[in-house]
Amino acid sequence: MPNIAYVNGEFLPLEKATVSIEDRGFQFGDGVYEVIRVYGRTPFRLNAHLSRLSQSAQAISIPVPFEPKEWEALIREGLQQSAYSECKVYIQMTRGVAPRDHLFPEASHPTIVMTFREMADLPLHMVEQGVAAVTLPDLRWARCSIKSLNLLPNLLAKQEANQAGAFEAILIKDGFLTEGTSSNVVLVKNGALLTPALSNQLLAGVTRQAILELAKSKGIVVEERPVREKELTQADELFLIGTTIEVLPVTRLNGHPVGLGVPGPITKRMREYFRALVHTK
Ligand code: PDD
Repeated sequence: MPNIAYVNGEFLPLEKATVSIEDRGFQFGDGVYEVIRVYGRTPFRLNAHLSRLSQSAQAISIPVPFEPKEWEALIREGLQQSAYSECKVYIQMTRGVAPRDHLFPEASHPTIVMTFREMADLPLHMVEQGVAAVTLPDLRWARCSIKSLNLLPNLLAKQEANQAGAFEAILIKDGFLTEGTSSNVVLVKNGALLTPALSNQLLAGVTRQAILELAKSKGIVVEERPVREKELTQADELFLIGTTIEVLPVTRLNGHPVGLGVPGPITKRMREYFRALVHTK
């Protein structure tokens, strides 16, 4: 089966799916989104993604047209039509089609788009050797807990990282770590996990929540607090987490090895715990 899209009530092959050029998502990036990973036909922590979608939409006053059960039914339908067992589902919700005007239209009819794409595991070498990251200034706005379609600063930083031979840019605001361009960041120091506490400067990652729960259940100490840029270079281990990358070791930072320059024992354990969690759901 091909990749599938859903656009405002209709399922169709991805390449046939279109939205209007007057859609405010296209005109302004006026919308929010979610990315959900499906393992063995089961969406991972769907409720958490749906509640974050709803919070993001509410934060920018887009009316959410569906109840969680209705979203779930649509997602099940898409999964059935695509017949993929391992895939990722994107949901994008914009303020809809209206003549271009910065003001919201009087009545907004959100555009709902979903895509269902097959997804393979990350290349093994990335997981086994770890990836390189660079630190870059966080040039984003002050409400990064909203999963907004406006990703320009994230794209620019990711591109700059790529040009420097790195996989991810780790963003720094006023001397403190926020997150990656599309990941949360965790340090390991003296056997404990250290990650910035939730705030309006970072996304409350679904993977982050799962990792912190797993660590606590396995007796690994977790500290959620402001993390200084300098602590990154002094970390024993460093890893990125997110829906599409799961737990990904960072073994080089700004051209220098992190710890011993290979994925560390706690990172490996967290990855194993996470893989076990997603495959038992
Ligand atoms: N990105 N921080 C940012 C800025 C992100 O874009 C993401 C996810 C995360 C991790 O969140 P979660 O664990 O809920 O996936 C943190 C998605 C995958 C994306 O934009 O493709």
